Amino acid sequence: MNDLPTRASAIHSGMAAPSMAGLHGAAARETADNGPSAGNIIVLGNEKGGTGKSTTAMHLIVALLRDGRSVASVDLDGHQGTLTRYIENRRSFAESEGMGLQLPDHHRIAGGEAEISEADALIDRLAASRDYVVLDCPGTDNPLARHAISRADILITPVNDSFIDLDLLARIGGTPPRVLGPSVYSQTVWEGRQRRAMSGGRPIDWIVLRNRLSPLDSRNKKNVGLTLDELARRIGCRCLDGFHERVIFRQLFLQGLTVLDLREEGAGVTLNMSHVAARQEIRRLADAVLGRGAGEARAGSPAKAGPGSTDPMLAGL
Ligand SMILES: Nc1ncnc2c1ncn2[C@@H]1O[C@H](COP(=O)(O)OP(=O)(O)O)[C@@H](O)[C@H]1O
Ligand SMILES: [Mg+2]
Repeated sequence: MNDLPTRASAIHSGMAAPSMAGLHGAAARETADNGPSAGNIIVLGNEKGGTGKSTTAMHLIVALLRDGRSVASVDLDGHQGTLTRYIENRRSFAESEGMGLQLPDHHRIAGGEAEISEADALIDRLAASRDYVVLDCPGTDNPLARHAISRADILITPVNDSFIDLDLLARIGGTPPRVLGPSVYSQTVWEGRQRRAMSGGRPIDWIVLRNRLSPLDSRNKKNVGLTLDELARRIGCRCLDGFHERVIFRQLFLQGLTVLDLREEGAGVTLNMSHVAARQEIRRLADAVLGRGAGEARAGSPAKAGPGSTDPMLAGL
């Protein structure tokens, strides 16, 4: 296991190392065995830290593995390396407890301009031989994180249920709150969409995922929901009610477990109602990613981006 953060490094390969020359990730393949397409690239991105990117990445990876998909993952947050450590912990726990936990083919890459071509080559190689490649971005704005957006078939942006988090997606003001204009991250996504369109990629499916939802119905929760509905239409994303604030999401890191593993012998957790609900939340996200039951997401019209686009202001913002 190599956890040096400075170069692209595989820390675990559950399968033989891929050797095929890379397809560009934008050109996902059609296969009969693996659902509608293979080589899909899923990017967890939001330039704010602590919104749940790595937690969501880990849960989605395990959900896809349990669904029988082959999955590779790349930690683009070389500084924090949360996803890498989560997966290392899973590997160690599985070994020490003799559990048959599934692992992705995981790699880690440092941020920075120099690593973009290296990351691209790695992503191409992984996408050529895996059903899904999950990229976990840092919670900062850097060239690699920006580039990752343009590689996304699906971009998932977790946001905490707060207008502070929404402020990165859009300028919001007034009573009741209304979307006034674009903000830094939606601008970054727009630019990523344009770069992707210029390289011939299919449009990015952008999912804004509410995280750490309060169990209580509050005015803030309702207002955030209404604003996200408006945002979905204006910036071309779909909004998904993701995960409630649950202690269990914070308790499993050291064992490398997810809420989907709680029924496994050796997990050492007695399942309660909150855990069952958490599992349903993860399955709902997996369904949205796999195109099953995606109707639960509140969809906006996809934003068009491309070389001919004259209006960078995000589908009418
Ligand atoms: N739904 C949730 N309920 C409770 N805690 C959560 C939830 N989602 C994430 N967390 C916690 O929030 C913190 C930040 O999550 P993390 O996935 O590291 O965010 P990011 O990768 O965006 O920086 C961690 O302590 C994590 O355990
Ligand atoms: Mg993280």
